[in-house]
Amino acid sequence: MSYNNIFDSHAHYDDVAFADDLDEVIKKIQESGVTNVINIGCSIQTSKNSIELANKYPFFYCSVGIHPGDCENLPDNYIDILRDLAKNEKVVAIGEIGLDYHYTDGASPAQQQKVFEEQLILAKELDLPVIIHSREATQDTMELLKKYKPKGVVHCFSGSAETAKEIVKLGMYLGFTGVLTFNNAKKAKEAVLEIPVDRLLLETDCPYMAPTPFRGKRCDSSLIEYTATAMALLKGVSTQEMIDIANKNTCDLFNIK
Ligand code: NI
Repeated sequence: MSYNNIFDSHAHYDDVAFADDLDEVIKKIQESGVTNVINIGCSIQTSKNSIELANKYPFFYCSVGIHPGDCENLPDNYIDILRDLAKNEKVVAIGEIGLDYHYTDGASPAQQQKVFEEQLILAKELDLPVIIHSREATQDTMELLKKYKPKGVVHCFSGSAETAKEIVKLGMYLGFTGVLTFNNAKKAKEAVLEIPVDRLLLETDCPYMAPTPFRGKRCDSSLIEYTATAMALLKGVSTQEMIDIANKNTCDLFNIK
């Protein structure tokens, strides 16, 4: 089967994994029905890279932000730098931002919370949606989302159906990657079942998170159809219908015409 109108709402094409053959990959994903991509910033440098990609490829958009894994040794004026970068017309969100307590050798939870909160305030000021990364930090993430009530998406959602419902109640969206196709993705599937279809986004998080049967390989946006099929089965629609719904949701959230 071939599909069209695919919107990959979360990709990292500036990753070193694409350094040798990016133009070929871009050609391939366009030939497989991908019509839009948001390339995600994780640091000041990758935010700049994302803008560069979005300016090079007309069907790309991008976000700028500091990932919790990159929030050590930030310059004092990093918010001013992000504010300035966000002026580029291809920037549609602040992200990815959030909390990640999985690795204990990075920034402390307190430092991560400070940087997360400062960027939530920046997003409000700029009236931009946020792209949230939360890993093993559900309670603290939810507390800050409830405090600031941003527009946005919790990306690569891996929490419980209960948490998913709370996020929907806040008016936010949830993004799902190839993880949804894994045999052991019971939690993600339960969450999709609980969430209204107008709150679901499709994403790859490529080069990571390749869906079954490509698990562990380099992922790109052409593989998103496997995630769409898994999601479609849970929601009782066809794969193309699911792709179309997720495309519309993504355009609504990021204010893309
Ligand atoms: Ni990501």
